[in-house]
Amino acid sequence: QNHLNTAKPLAGKMALVTAGPTYEAIDPVRFIGNHSSGKMGYAIAEELQRLGAQVTLVSGPTHLKASEAITTIAVRSAQEMFDACDTRFDSSDIIVMSAAVADYTPKETAVEKIKKKAEDFTIELKKTTDILGTLGQRKSIQQTLVGFALETNNELAHAQDKLRRKNADFIVLNSMQDKGAGFGTDTNKITVLSPHSGIKNYDLKSKQEVAKDIGQIIVEHQQQL
Ligand code: CTP
Ligand code: CA
Repeated sequence: QNHLNTAKPLAGKMALVTAGPTYEAIDPVRFIGNHSSGKMGYAIAEELQRLGAQVTLVSGPTHLKASEAITTIAVRSAQEMFDACDTRFDSSDIIVMSAAVADYTPKETAVEKIKKKAEDFTIELKKTTDILGTLGQRKSIQQTLVGFALETNNELAHAQDKLRRKNADFIVLNSMQDKGAGFGTDTNKITVLSPHSGIKNYDLKSKQEVAKDIGQIIVEHQQQL
């Protein structure tokens, strides 16, 4: 029992992880997307699985494939990602939202491919549902909720604001200060903010190592509950 618990401290826990970008359809052949590779989210899913949790990965379009032990749900749009998370949130002990969700989506998706006409062309957009922000409002004290933030200015103030607004236990701030960090790279430099334990800076590391650090933070939080 003891030996098993140290090796798999998250045994018996359910984890929900979001990863990758979302694609917001303009017409049948075009979309609004972003450059998120999904690497960070997939690495976190693998790490939580390694720590013993039963992991469901809700993934936007990526080139990655999670290991067999992980239940992967492929989604495209922010709305699809929201729906997939909404039905699984309450039964999850650990929720990590690392997806780069589109903030805006076309008001209307054209049924046919849009033809080229005038010189100027405008697409009207509307806000998507904030998945973390919405689901965070119904978080229970048994749950560990982790969000991400990528900022280019006033990093800490913005991240602090997200921590509060989204009711998260932790916000992982991706530092843009370092060249090797963030979108498309294999490394990340993070700062973790928490209402429980304040602010902690980490060194530049591989996304696998960063996932280990985040896993450790989650294990400690779950053990304190
Ligand atoms: N997020 C989400 N649903 C959205 C937008 C963001 O769940 N529609 C989550 C992301 O997965 C991330 C966190 O919220 O964990 C912060 O995302 P970010 O884009 O940094 O924050 P926003 O609230 O969208 O604010 P802004 O883009 O204006 O900085
Ligand atoms: Ca955003």
